[in-house]
Amino acid sequence: MSHLLIVTSSLSGAASQSNRLIERYSAGLAAADPRLEITRRDLGAQPVAPLDGARLGALGTPAAARTALQATVAAESDALIAELKAADVVLIGAPMYNFTVPSQLKSWFDHVARAGVTFRYTAAGPEGLLTGKRAVIVTTRGGRHQGAPEDHVVPYIQTMLAFIGIRELEIVYAEGLAIGERERQSSLAAAEARIDALTALAA
Ligand SMILES: Cc1cc2nc3c(=O)[nH]c(=O)nc-3n(C[C@H](O)[C@H](O)[C@H](O)COP(=O)(O)O)c2cc1C
Repeated sequence: MSHLLIVTSSLSGAASQSNRLIERYSAGLAAADPRLEITRRDLGAQPVAPLDGARLGALGTPAAARTALQATVAAESDALIAELKAADVVLIGAPMYNFTVPSQLKSWFDHVARAGVTFRYTAAGPEGLLTGKRAVIVTTRGGRHQGAPEDHVVPYIQTMLAFIGIRELEIVYAEGLAIGERERQSSLAAAEARIDALTALAA
């Protein structure tokens, strides 16, 4: 049985286009595989704590030596990592906020990138430990930035996923959503068509 992890990060809730497109993607995968198990991690609705000194200290302390508070803090990161480890496919909703990912999504990566657990350093360099998974990024933007130097969304997510071992990746762009109604509609229609084509391949 396949397991899908959906990570969304828009702050716009029901008005979010990335959330809507992600739902379309997951519905397509579920239609192709009725036994698909789905876990949802909505970082916009329920943000994970940003990394701070106390949290970093807790994660850097061996489990047996943690205080009760440190153990609670570390358990939050452990739960996020367990969700990711259990997934075969990771679907990431990534609106562009100020040319990069929402800080909620950055915080999620700060939790799940853990030395010795999701990556390790070897003599040959860093090695991602979460192999055998694939990911899909659905990224929404008010303007048009695909492939441009100011797009710090896709290169960042690609780098982070590769760092922890996830290299098989599809990207769906919905750009120009704030440029005008016609452009918005055609961009969303193109993103929907791409999603339908990608999920049809899974059938
Ligand atoms: C705080 C904030 C910052 C944004 N920064 C950018 C930006 O740098 N470039 C851009 O093209 N659009 C930017 N936008 C527009 C969003 O990317 C666009 O509204 C997108 O649809 C948001 O995704 P969502 O509908 O899933 O929430 C920004 C929106 C917000 C709320």
